[in-house]
Amino acid sequence: MSITVKKRYEVDGYQIINRGNYSYVFHCKDKENQELKLAAKKISLASMGINKSLQEYEILDSLQVFLNPHIVKCYDIEQIGDDVFIILELCELGDLSKKIYEMRQKNQRFTAEQILDFIIQVVDGAFLLYKKKIFHRDIKPQNILLTMDSNNNLIYKICDFGSARFVQDMGQAQNFTKYLTPLYQSPEISIQQIFSPKSDIFSFGLIIYELCFLKLPYITKEEQQPFFNQLKDEKFQFDLSTIEGSNEQINLIKLIIEQTIVYKQENRINWEDLYAITTDFKQYSQTIYEQQNAENFCYTIAKQHVNLLMKKSQLVNVLMLEFQNCFQLNILDISLNIFKLAFTTLACCKHLLCMSIISFMEGNYKNLSSNLKKIIKEERFQELSGIYKQKFKQDPDIKFNFDDINIKKFNYALDMAHFQINWINDINKNYQNQFKDLHDHFIQFAAFAKNIGSSSNYEDYIYLWNDLFQTQIEPKIPQNNQQGNLNMQIQELFNYKQIFSFKQKFQHK
Ligand SMILES: Nc1ncnc2c1ncn2[C@@H]1O[C@H](COP(=O)(O)OP(=O)(O)O)[C@@H](O)[C@H]1O
Ligand SMILES: [Mg+2]
Repeated sequence: MSITVKKRYEVDGYQIINRGNYSYVFHCKDKENQELKLAAKKISLASMGINKSLQEYEILDSLQVFLNPHIVKCYDIEQIGDDVFIILELCELGDLSKKIYEMRQKNQRFTAEQILDFIIQVVDGAFLLYKKKIFHRDIKPQNILLTMDSNNNLIYKICDFGSARFVQDMGQAQNFTKYLTPLYQSPEISIQQIFSPKSDIFSFGLIIYELCFLKLPYITKEEQQPFFNQLKDEKFQFDLSTIEGSNEQINLIKLIIEQTIVYKQENRINWEDLYAITTDFKQYSQTIYEQQNAENFCYTIAKQHVNLLMKKSQLVNVLMLEFQNCFQLNILDISLNIFKLAFTTLACCKHLLCMSIISFMEGNYKNLSSNLKKIIKEERFQELSGIYKQKFKQDPDIKFNFDDINIKKFNYALDMAHFQINWINDINKNYQNQFKDLHDHFIQFAAFAKNIGSSSNYEDYIYLWNDLFQTQIEPKIPQNNQQGNLNMQIQELFNYKQIFSFKQKFQHK
C-alpha cells in the first residue's frame, strides 16, 4: 500500500515509524531523489481539522529559510481524502523518549557533556522560534528527534508543530491546553490554564532534568501538583553528583535546571538569556578544545624531537665504537692525540644529546596535559634516564661518576670541556698551537656548560664538532667502504638542523 503525495513523494503505508496523538508517521521516498530519506506525517482531518493541519505546515514552512539544523526540515503538504500528509526529513534515530527509554533499559546514564550538547542544540533551535515569535507549546522528548550528521555527530531537532502558534494568533486559540502533554506542562498552564512565552522553557527544563535522572521529578499527573506546590515555596533541590563530567559542566547544567524549573514565570529565565549562556559555554568549550589540540600538537613535536635526539645519541654510541675500531686497525691516519681529542669530544657530544633530551622534556612537558605528561614520564623519560645512566657506567673511557642524574648537580659537560681544554693545551705544547681555534671554542663551551639545562648547548657543541672533524679528521679518513660509512655517520650526526626546526616549531606554539 503506497500513496503518492504531490506526484513525487511515495509514502509507504506499511512502514510506520511511530504514531503521535493525532497522526501516524511513515517512511517515505522522493521519486526524484532516491537517496533522500523522508518521513510522511499523516494527520487525520477528523481529529485535527484542515486549518490546524495547515497551520502546522505553515509554521514549519516559515522556518525553513533559516536552515536551522535543530528544526526538522519540511518539504511539502497535500490533502488526500480525509488525511493531510506533511513530508518531513527522516530522523533515523527516532525521538528522545525512545533514547531515554533505551538508556534506562541498558542502565546507562547521559554524561554532562552529552546533556550540554543536547541543551546547546535545542536552545539554538528554540531561540529561532522565539525570535520568530512562535510558541511551540508541546516541548517534550517525543517531539525532539535524533539523527546523525555526516561527521557522525548526534543532532537534535525540534519537531511536531501541531500545537505551535504565532504569537499574534494566540488570542484566538483558547482551547489549546487540551493538546498539551500534561506531564511536561508548566504550572501556569497546569493550574491557571494560561500560556506564557516562558511555558516552553519550563517544559525544556523538565527534559533536561529527565536526561540527568532518566525520570521526571514526579511520575504521575497526581504527583505533579504537590511538586508544583513545593516549587512555589522553595527553590528546586536536586543533586547532580552522580553525573559523569567536569565541575564546570555539571554546575552549568545545575544552573540551567534551577533557572528553567521555576514556578513563577517572571523569575524563570527567557530564551534569550538561555541562548547567551549556552553560546558562551560553546565558545568556552571551543577554546578548551583548541588548547587541547595545541597540547597534542606540542606533544607530537616534543616526541619527534626526543626521538630524533635519542636516535642521534644511539648513533654516537655506534660511531664511537667504529671510530675506535678504525683507529686500532690503523685505518685512520690520525695521531693518538687527535684520536683522544675526537673520542672525548664524541663522548661529550653523546652526553650533551642525553642532557638535551632530559632538559628538553623538563623544560617543555609542563605545557602538556597531565595524561601526556604521564606517558612521557613512564615511557620516555624514565627509559631514557635509565639507559643513559647505565651506558655511561659501562663506558670505560669515561672516568666520571654518574650515579646522580639530577641535572642541577651534573657537571659532566663542564668537566668534559675542561678535560678537552687540557688535552688541547697538552697537544699544543708539541704541535705549535695546532688547535688554537678549537681551544677557544672549548673555553667558550665551558662557559655554556656551567649553565647546562638547555639544549642550546648542543648546538654550540656541534659547532666544535664540525670544526674538529672537518679540519682534523675527515681529510684523513681514507675513501674505502668502511670509512665512507664512518664519514656518513658523522655527517648524519651533525645533520642537526632538523632538531632545531622541530624545536622552533615547538616553541612557536
Ligand atoms: N521526521 C521524522 N523522523 C523520524 N521520526 C519521526 C519524524 N516525525 C515524527 N516522528 C515520530 O513520530 C512521532 C509522532 O510525530 P509528531 O509529529 O510528534 O506527531 P503528533 O503531533 O501526533 O504528536 C514522533 O514522536 C516521532 O517518534
Ligand atoms: Mg508529537
